[in-house]
Amino acid sequence: MSVNLKHSVLIWLINQIQKFGPEKVVVLGKTYEISRDVFNPERYYTSRFMAEHIHVAAGDKVLDMGTGSGIQAVTAARTAGRVIAVDINPEAVRFAARNIRAHGLEEKVSVIQGDLFSSLDPAEKFDVILFTPPYFDGRPGTLFEHALIDPDKSLIKRFFGSAKNYLKEGGYVQMLYSSIAGNERVLRLMHGLGWEYSLMARSRIWMETFFIYKSRPL
Ligand SMILES: C[S@@+](CC[C@H](N)C(=O)[O-])C[C@H]1O[C@@H](n2cnc3c(N)ncnc32)[C@H](O)[C@@H]1O
Repeated sequence: MSVNLKHSVLIWLINQIQKFGPEKVVVLGKTYEISRDVFNPERYYTSRFMAEHIHVAAGDKVLDMGTGSGIQAVTAARTAGRVIAVDINPEAVRFAARNIRAHGLEEKVSVIQGDLFSSLDPAEKFDVILFTPPYFDGRPGTLFEHALIDPDKSLIKRFFGSAKNYLKEGGYVQMLYSSIAGNERVLRLMHGLGWEYSLMARSRIWMETFFIYKSRPL
């Protein structure tokens, strides 16, 4: 099966799965409310895998890029001093903000809508940027599909083209990627944009291997 066909089948399947299921899910002992237009952190392993490996020091200022349900922001807020969570999908922003409030974290975590860094103050700098990007190829046709699809790695290119401007000296990006979406190509793209990386964690499920990378500007 070609990569494009495989991705189309998986996108179709995930769209079907999103239509069903509870509106409240529990991941790593914490409850998250979601709608069918928000990436379900219980159903997809990537959310839990990333949350289990978040590396944030006490007091750090953290950016959770593509927050979805808010799971990474909620998890980071256990140790971080301040978290800003961003999503392009207004429905994700609504539910992430609701989940932040439900966990009593509204003093520490803000949620904003925006396309990558566009809504942030350009003077804002972070110790850690968390990123669990969409990674299937195609064109997003719905709000929800922004959680799945990155056309020809254009989001990755834009992200690594700008992220340096939002990192403090010594800061890093913690990003999850998948073997079925060309992780080697993404590493080459990152390197071409002036980043180095190290592997923080990997996990194989069936035919797919998930990687978590720590990336720093060269
Ligand atoms: C794979 S989901 C991950 C959600 C969540 N971080 C998690 O771990 O469950 C990717 C998220 O990135 C968001 N996203 C996609 N493109 C974006 C963009 N250009 N700017 C901000 N967020 C974006 C999607 O709406 C989606 O919520």
